[in-house]
Amino acid sequence: MINIQNVSKTYGNSAKKAVDNLTLTVNDGEIFGFLGPNGAGKSTTIKMICGILSIDEGAISIDGIDISQNPIQAKKLLGFVPDTHETYENLTANEYLNFVATIYEVPSNQVKQRAEKLLTLFELDKVLNNPIKTFSHGMKQKILVVASLLHNPKVWILDEPLTGLDPQSAYQLKLLMRKHADEGNTVFFSSHVIDVVEKVCDRIAIVDNGSLVVVDTLDKIRQNKDVSLEQVFLKVTGANLEENND
Ligand SMILES: Nc1ncnc2c1ncn2[C@@H]1O[C@H](COP(=O)(O)OP(=O)(O)O)[C@@H](O)[C@H]1O
Ligand SMILES: [Mg+2]
Repeated sequence: MINIQNVSKTYGNSAKKAVDNLTLTVNDGEIFGFLGPNGAGKSTTIKMICGILSIDEGAISIDGIDISQNPIQAKKLLGFVPDTHETYENLTANEYLNFVATIYEVPSNQVKQRAEKLLTLFELDKVLNNPIKTFSHGMKQKILVVASLLHNPKVWILDEPLTGLDPQSAYQLKLLMRKHADEGNTVFFSSHVIDVVEKVCDRIAIVDNGSLVVVDTLDKIRQNKDVSLEQVFLKVTGANLEENND
C-alpha cells in the first residue's frame, strides 16, 4: 500500500510546483495507473515515493512506513523501474543482478530461481554474460524489470515501463504486473499512453500540472460506455479538442 498525503514539490527557484498538494492511496492487490501529459509531475511523484527526491511538504508511506523517516526500511519493500534505462553499463547482466540482490539481501538460491524464470520470459537468458553497455534500450529496460523483482517487492513501481518495449515484452510485462497484484502486492505505474492504462489498470489517477484531477475505476471515470478514457483524459487535462485545420 502506498499512502501519499498532501505532498508538494518545487524544483529550485521555480515559481511552479512540480507536484501540488497530492493526496492518493494505492491499495494492495491493485494495478494503479498514474496517467498524465508530459510534465504533469508523474516522475517527480514516483521519485518521492521511492525516496530518490526529498518531499517539500506532506508525507509518503509504504505499508505504513514513512519514506522520509525510515528510508531503508521503506525502500526494502519497494521495487523500482526508472524511465531512464540507467544501470551500471560495464557490469554484465549477471553481475548487475547479483549486485542488486546483494543490496536487497536476497539469498543466492532465491536470486537464481527468480531471475532464471524472468530472464527466459524476456529472452535475456542468452545475453546474461554480456556487458550491459552492449544492450539495446529495450534490453536494458527488461534487465531493470528483472532486477526490480528479485526481492519480490511488496510495492512495485514502474515509470513509463512500456515505452520502448517490443510487443512481446510489453505483453509479458503486463502479465507480470497482473500476477504481482493478484498475489496481494501493490503495482503502481505511470504512463502517458492511454491505451495501456485502459487495458491493465484496476484504478486510474489522472494528473495535470502537478495536481490530481481524477481518481477512480475506469468504468466510473468513463461514467457511461460511450465515452473513451482518451476523451475524458483530453477533457480534464484541458487539451484543445477543436479540429486543427491548418
Ligand atoms: N530535475 C528537474 N529540475 C527542474 N525541473 C524539473 C526537473 N524534473 C522535472 N522538472 C519539472 O517538473 C515538472 C514535472 O516533471 P515530471 O515529474 O518529470 O513530469 P512527468 O513525469 O509527468 O512527465 C515539469 O514542469 C518539469 O519540467
Ligand atoms: Mg516522467
